[in-house]
Amino acid sequence: MKITKLPETTSLKEHLLHLGYRFPCDGRGLCGKCKIVAPVLPITSLDRRFIQEIDLLNGVRLACDKSITSDIDIKCDLLKNEPLKRITAPSLVGMFNPSFVELAIIDDELVESKHFPLVSDTCLELRSVIAKNAVDFFEEYGAAKATTLLIAGSPMQVATFLNEPFVPSIVGEFILASNARMPAEQIYVPPAPNKIIGSRHLLEITRLNIDEMIIIPDEGIFIYNNAGIDLVSAKIEIANLTELFNSGTQSDLINIFIASYIYMIQDYHISSVSILSDSFKIERLPRIGNESVRLVKSVAMTAATNVILDNLFKTKLNKLAKRIVYLDIIQQDAFHSILSKL
Ligand code: FES
Repeated sequence: MKITKLPETTSLKEHLLHLGYRFPCDGRGLCGKCKIVAPVLPITSLDRRFIQEIDLLNGVRLACDKSITSDIDIKCDLLKNEPLKRITAPSLVGMFNPSFVELAIIDDELVESKHFPLVSDTCLELRSVIAKNAVDFFEEYGAAKATTLLIAGSPMQVATFLNEPFVPSIVGEFILASNARMPAEQIYVPPAPNKIIGSRHLLEITRLNIDEMIIIPDEGIFIYNNAGIDLVSAKIEIANLTELFNSGTQSDLINIFIASYIYMIQDYHISSVSILSDSFKIERLPRIGNESVRLVKSVAMTAATNVILDNLFKTKLNKLAKRIVYLDIIQQDAFHSILSKL
């Protein structure tokens, strides 16, 4: 292909950008992926760092550090820029998980979501992971800031993010984003029904069908929906149940979990159980009756997107939160009777 020299620049990179080509590391000399074939161009130290001698002899060069002083013929397989989807008024969802944050940008639907590791659960860490990566999203999509940022997570994570000692009130609320130094106009915090169930769990249970139980292994939570008591949560202090189940150790913690499981299945005549995990060993759960047990993927992000886009969904979420009943089964004789037989 012929590159016609532009009057205003000698940089080959500028010429290729002008033609719509994309440089994987923005031409910072870090990736070695902007290869072209142009034997007339002199070999640079950057070329030597990334290109083998035999390819250099065949004219392969990196494009990002070269200059041209006249028209030139090159072979270029760089990808061209996709037209960038510009979002002028995006919303964001920041979903805290035990060891990572999922951040998503939303326009009139979920546009893109990325995972970022969480090094600690401090207020500074939770806030900076969201703020820094939100700004990267804005750059990518040409936005200045978000309108609404929905924050969801475990009760403690949400409280820590808000820099409050306790879980926020039961009703979902908007707060000024500047209070938490977030690049948005407002933050929406979905309702947190109690100190056991956080907003992330609440978003998951929006998918509940009658007679279905959901287990979230990382939190050791059972949630049950049926006539009478709408939702029951049996919180046991189990750190990362998935790991325990996969380790093969039949510890007291697993026994407590299994006893809780049996209690719920029996007492509420459960016929269907969903476990939110990719790796939980469901074969290690006892079968109590004819209940079907399956592993399912999280829907919290989809539910959060619906909450942002649809006020009716927000109302539904608030109603759901008010219906939750917390049952401390550790106080129940029937639970201890099951536990003693394990
Ligand atoms: S674009 Fe990465 S080294 Fe040239």
